[in-house]
Amino acid sequence: MDARAIIAMIRDGAPVGRAELSWFADGLADGRVSDAQAGAFAMAVLLKGLGDAGRTALTLAMRDSGRRLDWSVDGPVIDKHSTGGVGDCVSLVLAPALAACGAIVPMISGRGLGHTGGTLDKLESIPGITTQLDEAQFRAVVARAGCAIVSASAEMAPADRRLYAVRDVTATVESLDLITASILSKKLAAGLEGLVLDVKAGSGAFMKCDADARALAAALVETANAAGCRTSAVVSDMNQPLAPALGNALEMAEAMRVLRGDTQGRLGALTIELAGEALRIGGMAATREAGAQMVSETLSDGRAAAHFGRMVAAMGGPNDFVENWEGHLPEAVVIRDLPAPCAGHVTAMDGESMGLAVIGLGGGRQVEADKVNPAVGLDRVLPLGASVARGDPLLRIHATSEDDADRAAEQLLRATVIRDAPAQIPALIHERLG
Ligand code: URA
Repeated sequence: MDARAIIAMIRDGAPVGRAELSWFADGLADGRVSDAQAGAFAMAVLLKGLGDAGRTALTLAMRDSGRRLDWSVDGPVIDKHSTGGVGDCVSLVLAPALAACGAIVPMISGRGLGHTGGTLDKLESIPGITTQLDEAQFRAVVARAGCAIVSASAEMAPADRRLYAVRDVTATVESLDLITASILSKKLAAGLEGLVLDVKAGSGAFMKCDADARALAAALVETANAAGCRTSAVVSDMNQPLAPALGNALEMAEAMRVLRGDTQGRLGALTIELAGEALRIGGMAATREAGAQMVSETLSDGRAAAHFGRMVAAMGGPNDFVENWEGHLPEAVVIRDLPAPCAGHVTAMDGESMGLAVIGLGGGRQVEADKVNPAVGLDRVLPLGASVARGDPLLRIHATSEDDADRAAEQLLRATVIRDAPAQIPALIHERLG
């Protein structure tokens, strides 16, 4: 086989099968395929599409381009994946809550992408934590805590690692087929039996409208099920931050509040919904509602927090993190309110601009080599619909200097709409698929 022939088949809309796509994925992994050929392949897929069968074949080929984990354990191996948003720290709560219910959760997570935060960066706000583990260490953490949140190793889905870097610089990130194969190849390589997908829609998500989010959710659900992993999805709202905080340590603190039993807000509600569905998918609960009840109990009786504490300790963090998390998380030097410029109702927030403001404060990366400051960000963010008097705090800014806080304040005021008329508040769950 040869890369040019495969690219030409896709370019000309001819059906490509598992054999061709496996050859290409292996070539990406072992270097037989050049960067130019990878770029041409990605562009051909973006422009012509692979169809349902081709998308599944590419996903399986990329999964099999490297090591595939086999857990051979009691309890279903299940996980959740989110397409990314702001203030979304669900994974930090959901993984230990599922583990507390008896599931095995080997969660491969990512770093901040674009304006969105990354679970690994949030977890690393805990002093001493290491998320880059080899397979033996990964297995040891899962054995101790029932869950582990780690980065993908170089051996897992290496074709995706290579293709992702090429897509990033060839304007081919947006292909539904490529996004689906990229997300699922890593999840399937982790040896999952069941998966729940949280596809975000709204101003703080990559998919701004429901139709795009639904199309991605449908492609992911169909492909994952065709690949033998029981999967369902929700399209959830990202027209305001999920938790009232953005930034690594600040989101870690929000996750701790939910883990300690405060499940009142949107973060708690979505975590319970997704985890309940994961228990249904994994065969541990007859219905999503029954699963949600099991998860709620682990949050209120401290079992989920105990699993989180064991995971943190096993990954190099403090042994008493759950008891003393406030003392362990870093704090910014400058913390100040952002006053409302006028009275009215908070009717819109541009989540993407808010995420970019946090990156500007140093809470995310502008280029890959940037070091993230875990302490900076926003908290006490008022929800959509809140009514304010002029001068009331809209949120708090955590920064390393007054200048940084000034710049963020300007950006955040542009990102927030305050009107006389009450706001329309979108439901947390827009749709369920699968
Ligand atoms: N996350 C991934 O892992 N891959 C994509 O292509 C997009 C988001």
